[in-house]
Amino acid sequence: MHILVLNGPNLNMLGIREPEHYGTQTLADLEQMLHAEADRLGITVECFQSNHEGALVDKIQAAYGRADGILINPAAYTHTSVALLDAVKAVSIPTVEVHISDPDTRDEFRKVSYIRQACIATVKGKGFPGYLEGLGILVRAVTASGKNAE
Ligand code: DQA
Repeated sequence: MHILVLNGPNLNMLGIREPEHYGTQTLADLEQMLHAEADRLGITVECFQSNHEGALVDKIQAAYGRADGILINPAAYTHTSVALLDAVKAVSIPTVEVHISDPDTRDEFRKVSYIRQACIATVKGKGFPGYLEGLGILVRAVTASGKNAE
């Protein structure tokens, strides 16, 4: 089973940006944690971060026929991007939305998530462990569907 992990804009600044919301660990720490969990689960993950909406759309499209699931933190694009929503709908790959903080309890404009309607689940406000929870949800969903490649 192969899972694509996508992180959106400013998540390359983890460890520096707003530690009161996002903690002090870095993106490298997050990706290392996900690779270790993937090894434990006997699956593979590919991690990709971009500050560019189109690059994230390209990556979702390229996952068609290749990834069994997508774990995505669209970051600020959560609240603005119809393009990411449409990309996930286009490829029809089971997708879980994850957020380190809980955007629903913050600014009013963070309460809207465009991508949510195309996702099988949302995990929010649980810090880095939320990514592991999201990965687990995907693995169970893909296994239950019997559609994984391996
Ligand atoms: C975020 C929440 C978003 O509102 C914000 O724009 C981010 C990070 C989170 O992980 O908590 O960049 O997605």
